[in-house]
Order: sequence, then C-alpha cells, then structure tokens
Amino acid sequence: METRDGSHTLLNVAMDETYHSRHGALQESEYVFIEKGLYHWMEHHQQEQEINILEVGMGTGLNTILTVREALQHLHIHFHYTTLEPYPVDEEMVEKLNYLRFLPKIYTIQAKFRELHACAWEETVPLLDNFTLLKLKQKLEDIDSQPCCYDLVYFDAFAPNKQEEMWVPEILEKVVHMMRPSGVFVTYSAKGQVKRDLKTLGLTVETLPGPPHKAEMVRATKP
Ligand SMILES: C[S@@+](CC[C@H](N)C(=O)[O-])C[C@H]1O[C@@H](n2cnc3c(N)ncnc32)[C@H](O)[C@@H]1O
Repeated sequence: METRDGSHTLLNVAMDETYHSRHGALQESEYVFIEKGLYHWMEHHQQEQEINILEVGMGTGLNTILTVREALQHLHIHFHYTTLEPYPVDEEMVEKLNYLRFLPKIYTIQAKFRELHACAWEETVPLLDNFTLLKLKQKLEDIDSQPCCYDLVYFDAFAPNKQEEMWVPEILEKVVHMMRPSGVFVTYSAKGQVKRDLKTLGLTVETLPGPPHKAEMVRATKP
C-alpha cells in the first residue's frame, strides 16, 4: 500500500493492520526510531563508539536501512544491529517496496537494502565496516534473553489492540532486562497501560509528540 508520504507499507490482511502509519511510513520511521531514538541516544552518548540496537519486528527493513544510512554518516560509531522477524517478507514483495526512491542515490545504500533482506539468518553479517547485522527468525517471546547489552530498542511490534501479547508486562520486562543501564526504548504506541508498565519496571517514561497525525509516542530510559 502507498501511505500518505508516498512511501509503501504492507498490510497484514488477517490482522487488518499495516506495518507502518498510513499517514506516512517513512515519516513515521524517521521520526520515531531515528530522530527520537537514535539521535537522542547519540546526543546523550557523544563519547560512545559503539551502539547495540535491538529491533522488534524487522518487517520491510525500513528501520534497518534508515539506520544503515545513519551508520554511513557516523563512521566513528560501530553499529551492532539485531533484528527479530519470525515472518520474513518474501523477496518478491521486497522488490516492490519503493523505499530506495527516498534514500540517497548512492550505490551502497541501494545495494545494502537488498543485501539486508538477502543475507543469512542467525549469523552476524558485516554490512558495512561499521555496521553488523544479526537477523533472528524468532519471536521475541522465544529468544534467549541476556542481560544488559542493548543501548537502544526499536519496539516496532504490531499495535497493542492487534497483537496484545507483545505488550504485556512479562514481555516488556524481558526487553528491559536486555537493555543496558541508560538504554533507550522507543515505540510509536503511547498506550497508557504500556507507559505504566514501563514505569513499574523502573524506566523513566516520556510521552513525546507523535509523528504526523499521531498525537503521541513513547520513549523510556533505563536508569
Ligand atoms: C509493525 S510491523 C514492523 C515494521 C517494521 N519495523 C518495518 O519497518 O517494516 C511488526 C513486525 O513484527 C513482526 N512480528 C510479529 N510477531 C512477532 C513476534 N512475536 N516477535 C517479533 N516480531 C514479530 C511482524 O511480522 C512484523 O514484521
């Protein structure tokens, strides 16, 4: 489907839920995950030379390629990007996505979008000198959670009213457990219960203005 900013999204027909905001997939990803997540982390960790990112729900790879683009502009930081996707988007569908039209017209970005979809699962793959990608074809519920390694979490599961099991306190606790102290969690949802659960888990929760046509989003920081 084309969203209002001209960028594509996918519709999960069974769930009747899109992978991004219908008001603008690219705008939403840029704003929620890059601007309010990655840029915020960079602003507060200016001396850091490494970042570990966890994405919940790789889907179209839009957040991933936008982060690759950032890695190309921040060569002093090494990006370790782990993304979970139990239901990978098939190759034919990936070829139809129009994101490359909106990305810098440099060969590296264009090639990396295909590569990030085509590369092996469950293996750490060097996409750039300063960007490694680990794709796990697993559900968040099933992954082995190790404490304290992620600096930034892109929590991009389907909405709480469509996939409630991803937003329950036990799952949020699992994610928080995997975050480093001062790690940042961002999501497009601003559901009250999710904010309360994140607070109960000890995080400092900020309700921020949302992307176009969405009132609010959430950023939460681990102490
Ligand atoms: C809102 S879409 C994510 C969009 C994606 N970040 C993108 O840029 O296209 C939610 C994604 O979560 C994936 N997903 C569904 N169940 C999941 C689970 N249990 N654990 C992790 N990811 C899951 C879906 O397949 C889908 O790709």
